[in-house]
Amino acid sequence: MARIPFVCGNWKLNKTPDEACALAQDLRARLDGAPGVEVGVCPPFVCIPAVAEALKGSTVSVGGQDIFWMEKGAYTGEVSGPMLVSAGCRYVIVGHSERRGRFAKPGPELAGDLMAVFGDNDTTVNRKALAALSAGLRPIICVGETLEERQAGRTEVVVEAQVRAGLAGVRPEQAEEVVLAYEPVWAIGTGEKCDDEEANRVCGLVRRLLAQVWGPEKAQGIRVLYGGSVDAQNAPGLMRQSEVDGGLVGGKSLIADDFEKIVKAAQQGKGMG
Ligand code: 13P
Repeated sequence: MARIPFVCGNWKLNKTPDEACALAQDLRARLDGAPGVEVGVCPPFVCIPAVAEALKGSTVSVGGQDIFWMEKGAYTGEVSGPMLVSAGCRYVIVGHSERRGRFAKPGPELAGDLMAVFGDNDTTVNRKALAALSAGLRPIICVGETLEERQAGRTEVVVEAQVRAGLAGVRPEQAEEVVLAYEPVWAIGTGEKCDDEEANRVCGLVRRLLAQVWGPEKAQGIRVLYGGSVDAQNAPGLMRQSEVDGGLVGGKSLIADDFEKIVKAAQQGKGMG
């Protein structure tokens, strides 16, 4: 079964609602109805209603950047699955390395114990993935090793542990709602992209794990994205890789021209554009 590639923008901490609306309108004009590819954007929470309105009736989906596992209650600052759904979301990023407090090069603003404000771990990532699925959202579960882990030869161990923990308790009939994203921490925001072959190898490893959890047939239908310094230049090579089913794009998803080129690369790389 051919997997439809998925290119999703992670806007991180960027854009006010007005700016987000303008970018969404621009992307809609460029990408609505693009054949053979699925496109999504994940704006900051406060921008979601404006972006959802701008993209209403288009083929571009909206996602959140995080979710809390309780639906409501005394959890100041959190946002739940039903809230995201009613604001217009179809997807939600879960366990992004930045939410796990794993940064390639943390700046001085995160020095010392300030990093602890980003506290996701494998247990919370799993709760969030399950909460997303129960709310009817598609979780984009992020996994990936740091530079130290890679240099210590631990890439496979780390990725396997994150995939297995993230998926614990996900029922087989929910499998196709799940998207995985391999995002090596050292490649995020650094301009240092993972080699095409290496990205393919680790995405392939993720798929083998999915096959162990849900069987090979289901695993063939699940999208495994690559993320980390994806841009218009390196996207064609990455998107041609057989195990890479699209991209989770940070910085370049804020620039409509570049994001459009990355989406085109995904279409062409899979012979769909
Ligand atoms: P960059 O594309 O800016 O490296 O960010 C990748 C990312 O973290 C997407 O979630």
